[in-house]
Amino acid sequence: MREPDGAENEKMTIILKPLKIGGLTIDFPVVLAALAGYSDLPYRKICRSLGAPFATTEVMIDRFLLHESKLRRFILKSDADDHPVGGQFMGSDPELMVRAAFVIRDLGFDVVDLNFACPVRKVVSRKRGGFMMTQPEAVLEIVRRVREAVPDRPLMLKLRRSFDLDETDAEAFWTIAQGAFEAGVDALCVHARAVEQQYTGRADWNFLSAVKRAFPDRTIIGSGDVATAAEAIRMIAETGVDGAAAARGAIGNPWLFRQARELAAGRPALPPTITEQRDVLLRHYELCLRHYGDRKGVMTMRHLGIAYARVHPHPKRVRMAFVAVKTAEDWRNVIETHYRETAEGPG
Ligand SMILES: Cc1cc2nc3c(=O)[nH]c(=O)nc-3n(C[C@H](O)[C@H](O)[C@H](O)COP(=O)(O)O)c2cc1C
Repeated sequence: MREPDGAENEKMTIILKPLKIGGLTIDFPVVLAALAGYSDLPYRKICRSLGAPFATTEVMIDRFLLHESKLRRFILKSDADDHPVGGQFMGSDPELMVRAAFVIRDLGFDVVDLNFACPVRKVVSRKRGGFMMTQPEAVLEIVRRVREAVPDRPLMLKLRRSFDLDETDAEAFWTIAQGAFEAGVDALCVHARAVEQQYTGRADWNFLSAVKRAFPDRTIIGSGDVATAAEAIRMIAETGVDGAAAARGAIGNPWLFRQARELAAGRPALPPTITEQRDVLLRHYELCLRHYGDRKGVMTMRHLGIAYARVHPHPKRVRMAFVAVKTAEDWRNVIETHYRETAEGPG
């Protein structure tokens, strides 16, 4: 008999509304965040099959979008079941950003998503991603040019609350947000940490409340510290944002989306059974091999198996087993050994 886990079993009283991004209506407001190394086509399909209503590619650098390559194929491949989907990219040259936006539109992405939030050092030092939080006028120039060039697709921005931790530049966020909405941006996804914080410390949900108060009629998606389904719903309830993006909380736990829908319907959020975990892992494996080919597919699933281990009843043991995987056979052996319902419980 499965017990709902404590943190997931809170009584939720909020009525969740569909999420609107421009002309797009997304039936449920807990979505899969853009996640480098994770939010590829296989994982988007897995998350959708468990209730995620919207997902975004990992971020690409604008100029890498412009030419066919293996990297572009891996990141931008989508299919008929993978909608609505956002295509995300970053850069600092308005001309290149416009050309990248054309590619995203022409490949059939439903939302054009510009990233001004990425904190990776190499990205920031090359004056892209989160660096742009120090350059509000340059951001707005890009936004206006992209909006004008691609008027027929919803446009969204990924922002951080500020660049530095002391918030000496706190005004930049508000300049960008105000200017972006005036330029016709349809939604902001706000990660409530400073760029310099990277992924450490707490996300400031009070900041999300302030953003929603400042733009009550605009679509704001909150990001930061959505570790569980209950936290996704609590973020929406407490801050008033229109949607919550699950990021690290969804890595290895695609059931978060099913749990969020259950909680929203007033039912307890049950953890996945061992059989459900096995089925999803096997399906993910097939999708990964199809997407990446055999060699890269198996190595990707080794890495993802390690992430999935955290929802297994014996996480340490299963994690170590995935860490030791070298071949497709090893990987299948981990599934056979640890994902079988036996009389004594999962092995
Ligand atoms: C491994 C990893 C990769 C990420 N890749 C992206 C990305 O490509 N684009 C993006 O907008 N955000 C990216 N993010 C940020 C997340 O979307 C999210 O904003 C952030 O992790 C905060 O949410 P959390 O505290 O619930 O994890 C990434 C985060 C992580 C941990």
